[in-house]
Amino acid sequence: MMNRWHVMKRLLPLTAIFMLILSACGREDLSTLNPQGPVAETQYDLMKLSIGIMTLVVVVVFAICIYVLIKFRRRKGDKTIPKQVEGNHTLEIIWTVIPLVLLLILGVPTIQHVFGLAKDYSDDKSAVHVKVTAHQYWWEFEYTDYGITTAQELIVPTDKKIQFDLTAADVKHSFWIPAIGGKMDTNPGMTNNMYLEFPNEGVFRGKCAELCGPSHALMDFKAKAVSSDSFDRWVSAMKAPAVMPADPEIAETFNAQCLSCHAVGEKGGNSAPNLTGIGGRQTVAGILFNSDVVADPEKEDKTTAENLHDWIADPQKVKPGNTMPQVDLTPEQIDGIAKYLAGYKLDY
Ligand code: CUA
Repeated sequence: MMNRWHVMKRLLPLTAIFMLILSACGREDLSTLNPQGPVAETQYDLMKLSIGIMTLVVVVVFAICIYVLIKFRRRKGDKTIPKQVEGNHTLEIIWTVIPLVLLLILGVPTIQHVFGLAKDYSDDKSAVHVKVTAHQYWWEFEYTDYGITTAQELIVPTDKKIQFDLTAADVKHSFWIPAIGGKMDTNPGMTNNMYLEFPNEGVFRGKCAELCGPSHALMDFKAKAVSSDSFDRWVSAMKAPAVMPADPEIAETFNAQCLSCHAVGEKGGNSAPNLTGIGGRQTVAGILFNSDVVADPEKEDKTTAENLHDWIADPQKVKPGNTMPQVDLTPEQIDGIAKYLAGYKLDY
């Protein structure tokens, strides 16, 4: 008995550490336990229901078990053999019916919600349709209703359902915005569907939830929910002609070195993240927070220009295994491009 207590005492600090890790003591909103939309709320309700039922079972079973252990323990000097019981119809019926009832209570709403959340708004004209393509290690968002494409920051209106067509360009990834709902795998060569709703304005963090390579854990994105007016302004701003660097030399370098893969406005390629309005995004590469966009005094974040500089200078250092090539640029050119991109903000 003494020994066991010692083991328990040693395990306590370890348990505390694990609890801290599991509670994800990181930056805001990466929790399914703080739902910010009806989809996440439904999923949270199901979690509470199943945990509630399981807790009830554990408490009742343990209570009966402890009661029996104490009440029917062998007392000192007692040498008799207890009454041998073989089968009891009443008991057997009780312990078959109770789990059946519990499973029904759990199963009926679960099946109801699973089908409810699988509803497809692909043909619904009032929904916003976004084709999500996961890449190692970034997210592409194509708004098929509007003919615009962005990356890393998904902009959505608060008053509409968002229907996602999910696919991947290379390996299997998984699209997940914990506070809003999910998750759903993105597979190369096929399309999965899911809808979400974002009734509250704000920025919600998204994650890749399927091991996809060395930078899987760094494959973050943001979902920014804005009013419908703001969303319309964003769509127009995305469609506006590209803003190129003011300095003709930087503009030429940017055009030659970056726009073969990246795009700004109507210019450039589409094999790398679209950079239109990148200066207004919360992060560079999804993970480097920009202090001039979201000020967080507790974190020593760099400014957008500094983060962009770090990224362009050595992308492999920030996200190992990503497909951005090491570009041959002088420090002045990197500086010029970083400053230009940091200043490229959309008004919406
Ligand atoms: Cu993409 Cu993990």
